[in-house]
This record gives sequence, C-alpha cells and structure tokens, in this order.
Amino acid sequence: MTYQISSLEDYKQTYQRSIDDPEGFWADQAETFTWRKKWDSVLEWDFREPNIKWFSGAKLNITENCLDRHIATRGDQVAILWEPNNPADEVQKFTYRELLAAVCKCANALKALGIEKGDRVVFYMPMVPELAIAVLACARIGAVHSVVFAGFSAQALADRVNDASAKMIICSDFNNRGSKHIPVKKVVDEAMAKGCPSIENILVHKNSNEDIEWSDKDVWWHDQVAGQSEECPAEIMDAEDLLFILYTSGSTGKPKGVVHTCGGYMVYTCFTFKNAFQYKDGDIYWCTADIGWITGHSYIVYGPLLAGATSVMFEGVPTYPDAGRFWEICEKHQVNQFYTAPTAIRALMARGDEWPNKYDLSPLKLLGSVGEPINEEAWNWYNKTIGKEKSPIIDTWWQTETGGIMITPLPGITDAKPTYASYPMPGVQPVLLDADGNLVEGNNVEGLLCIKFPWPAMLRTTYGDHERCRQTYFSVFKDMYFTGDGARRDEEGRIRVIGRVDDVMNVSGHRMGTAEVENAINEHENVIESAVVGYPHEIKGQGIYAYVITDGSKGGEDLINEIRAVVTREIGPIAKPDKIQVVSGLPKTRSGKIMRRILRKIAAKDTSNLGDVSTLLNPEIVEEIIKGSL
Ligand code: WTA
Repeated sequence: MTYQISSLEDYKQTYQRSIDDPEGFWADQAETFTWRKKWDSVLEWDFREPNIKWFSGAKLNITENCLDRHIATRGDQVAILWEPNNPADEVQKFTYRELLAAVCKCANALKALGIEKGDRVVFYMPMVPELAIAVLACARIGAVHSVVFAGFSAQALADRVNDASAKMIICSDFNNRGSKHIPVKKVVDEAMAKGCPSIENILVHKNSNEDIEWSDKDVWWHDQVAGQSEECPAEIMDAEDLLFILYTSGSTGKPKGVVHTCGGYMVYTCFTFKNAFQYKDGDIYWCTADIGWITGHSYIVYGPLLAGATSVMFEGVPTYPDAGRFWEICEKHQVNQFYTAPTAIRALMARGDEWPNKYDLSPLKLLGSVGEPINEEAWNWYNKTIGKEKSPIIDTWWQTETGGIMITPLPGITDAKPTYASYPMPGVQPVLLDADGNLVEGNNVEGLLCIKFPWPAMLRTTYGDHERCRQTYFSVFKDMYFTGDGARRDEEGRIRVIGRVDDVMNVSGHRMGTAEVENAINEHENVIESAVVGYPHEIKGQGIYAYVITDGSKGGEDLINEIRAVVTREIGPIAKPDKIQVVSGLPKTRSGKIMRRILRKIAAKDTSNLGDVSTLLNPEIVEEIIKGSL
C-alpha cells in the first residue's frame, strides 16, 4: 500500500528522508506497485540535456496497477461514478471489475483497428465515461494518448493531431454541456478537412440521437467495441516508454506537447493522491476538472484508480440547471473530498450562499483548489460556506509539466494559510532564485520558483522537439527546472505562488500564451499588429486584453466581433479577448520590442507608476493608449 503520512512529525521525517535519500525513498514507494520486472536503477539524471530516467529497466503496465491488481480486494467497489449533465438522466457506476472489462473491450477494438504500441491517439471528447475508458484502453495496449480539450477549435485540434502524427481520433457525436448541445464530430470533420493525413480512423462514440455526417474513415464505437472480448493482455511497457502527450501553452505561439512516461508518473500520481487528499478506503472523491487538462489525467483517472479510490466524473457545468449543481452533487453522492478551481469558486460565490445552503455538505472532509492562485476572499468563502470551517483547504500548486501536485498543505497535518500552497511534497525541492540565478535565501522573500532535483512525474521532453524542452525549462537557470512562476516564502517557510513571470496568462485556470492569441488575432485581414496581455479579472482570475492596430478600413463593434470570431476559429472560445482596444501604435523600445510591462499596467488600470517612457521609440503613444483604455 502506498505510504500515507499521518502526522506533522511524520511529514517532517518523511520529507527529510526524501531529500537525504531520494532514490531509497522513491524505491520504497515503487515497491508497492505491480511490476513485470523491477528496475535496474532508480534514477539517472542530467538537467543539462535534459535526460531524466526513473526506474530504468523496469517493466510494467499502468492499467494493471489501476485495475487488475484491485480486482481481488475491491472488484465490486465503484471505481468511476459518472454524473450526467442532466440531473434527471441516469448515473452510471463502473466497479473496478466492470471498468477493467470495459477497458479491455475498448483496447481490443483499438487493436482491431490497427492501433499498436507507440501509436498516437488523439481524443476530442466530452466528459463521458467512454473518455476515461478509452484513455485507459490506450495505456493497456501501449498506445500514446493525447487528449485535446473539446472546447478547442478545429484548427487547434488539427495542429495537435499533426504535431503528434496521430493515427486515430476518438470523439463523440455531440457534447452536452449545460443547456448547450455542441456538435463535436463536426469540429473533427472540419479538422480533417484542414488536412490530418496521418489519421486512419475516427472512432465515434454516440452521445445523442441526432444524425451526423459520415465518412469512410469513421467507425461507430458501439459497432466496434460491442463484440470484443472482455480480456486483453496488458502490453508490457518500459518504465520510460511514453504514456501520454498533453499539449499546453507556453510563451511562444505554438503549444508544446508535454511528454509523460509510465513508471515515474504512476508512482508519483498515486503517492500524491493518497497524501494530498488523505484518501481513506470508502471515501467518495470528486475532482471537477476536465480530462482535457492535466488535473483530469492525474486526479480523475490515474491517481485515484491507482489508489483504488471511487472517483466521481461529471459531464456538466457548475451552473446547470442552476448555481447549486456542484453542491447538489456533493449531497447526492456524499462526496468526501472535493477538488475544484478558484474560478469556479469565485463564480459560485458571486451567486450567493443560498445555493450551497440548500444542501447537506456534512460528508465533506477536505476541499481542494488548483490551477491558479486563490485569492483570500474566495479562500474564506470556500472555508466558511462550503467547508463550515471544519474541512481543511488544500491549495495545490503544480503544472502540466510536473505531472502531479508539488506544493500543498497536507489536510489536518500541516496548517493551511489562505493563499499559500505551503509546503513541498516529499521528494520535491523548490528554491527561489533572483533574475541572475542566485539563490534567494531566508524567509519573507520573493523570487522565481525553480525545482532543483528531479521528481518521478516530471516531463521528460516536449514531443518531437527536445531542444524546446531544454530551452524552456532547463536552460534559463543552470541545473534547475524553471517553472515560469514567481513565488514568495513567508516567515515560516510556506510558499505562495503569485503567478506567471513569462508571457503565459491564466484565464479561468486555463493556460494561454499571449503570442498564441496574438497569432490568432493577426489572422484577421484588417489587423496589422496586436499585443495581448492578461489583466486582473474578478471571476476568471485573469482576463485577456488585446491592443490591435488595424488598417483603418473597418471599425466599431463589427470589427471587435469579427476579431473575437477569428480567435474562436483559430484557438477556441476560451481564448476570446475580454477587451479589444484599437490603437494607432504600440509602445516599443528602440530595438522594436513591444513594452508589455506598460500595456499590462494600462490594462490593470494602474497607470500611476509607468516608469520612464521617454526612452521609447514612440513615447507619445502611451498617453493615447491610456486615454482610449477600456
Ligand atoms: C498556475 C494546472 C497558484 C501556475 C495543474 C502554474 C497555480 C500553472 C496553482 C500551471 C496554485 C497552478 N496557486 N498558481 N495552487 N496551481 N497554478 O499546466 O501559474 O494548467 O504554472 O496545470 O497554473 O497550469 P497547468
């Protein structure tokens, strides 16, 4: 059984050991899993390359650890409890035994369609159980899954399919999200029309009674999966074989495919799940994320199943049919651990206490937060109104690249201070650096957050472009993994993550590169140049503010709406700018670089201290932009 820390003293000792003897510590954790062959070495690493190998030489299949090994002890326990978008529809429960059978059937179907070990399979699906099943089916046969959030546009989907040279897309016909009925397969058809030459088949799960367009590459899930055997031998994987690719935004225009491998990811997600959530047998655990993001991968699917938990999966949105839906589900399924994003907390807080107050939330033992900094007001509301001041809050800091939770309070074990992610997980060695790469020591200080030693679930590369991985994360500071976040350390050593220091925005907990949005805006025929920055937004955390220079041939609301439509077409509605200001120029340095610092301040309505603008190429533009700001 995975080790579960039980007291403050235990945490301190465990942490100390994980630093003094990382290999011994992680080997002990790894011993609790099913391996077909044990490792030759626990860790080989060199951050300069980077070259990181955990449990080298070991053989395993992660689904044997998620499913098969639980059958003897908890075969009839619910593994996935699925709550539909429409509360009147039927809840679906999959026991571990049923889930294993469903995964094997799907795995056999994929094999019959020619999917083999190492092939990439892209997902574009709503939050239906078949998504989790098919993800695990890929892992069963050693295919590499790459889940694309089903809110991305056809262009964004095609870009990811082509970057991964995927052989198959798995999608649904429609997505039921709140009151919306979204034609998902149609987006896949559009992506195909843009050119996805590597795709051989599209496996379509039926989620509605409506007809859809059909091509000779399309295969219905129900035709392909139904007749398959419920047994499928697990492909034996190397610990360092690819498990999945997940695309995420960075500071350049092109999203990168973060690569995670089998062995280390397994050990780390299970360990962090058991410890951060203090999951006990019989608990009902619910993470509200979408499997299109890393949180859904690690803490709806892999972590909970590895730990033998009951994991709730929800198809819908927090406000449908009304703003009480989350709390209604908590009551209905007697949820014990609840994990969501600050943006959802803020949105629900704004709807008033009467919604949560209608429901019995007494089974809740723990509340989690992830994806962006949680402000004090939201933290306090979460604590009082949802947790009744008896459920510890864990503010978990981590990233797509880290694979699992890195810094978090341990509920009931370490204290929780509002807005602080607090203390590192065992095995995690965070440091703060100044801009020159010097260690910032002592407490009550701020710096750039780096990690100085490998942990098992860290990214290994960016798909197809190892150099990009090296440059983005490992070359900024020598022998360090650079997170891209700024942080502060308080007088007792707790860490508070303040936010990104690079050109990445965090909009409703979604990572979005400013360059990515600019590229999309520039696709509009009348736009000459644009600059995008994030600004503080009450509900979303950050909103998107775009400054655009146009050719003057068009203006007004029409232009603004067209630009929004272009961004929706190029990336998806989540990247739509909240504010678009047409300007005649952008503040630039003499070398032609856009001074984003000034634009960020103007967007934040903080123009009292813009610094010296006289060295700009065009200082007069600043006043004009301030005057016209929204
Ligand atoms: C931010 C999500 C403050 C941070 C798991 C990070 C946070 C980025 C927190 C990663 C937190 C995540 N407090 N900021 N508790 N958690 N972030 O890859 O800027 O979607 O770098 O992973 O979200 O976002 P990603």
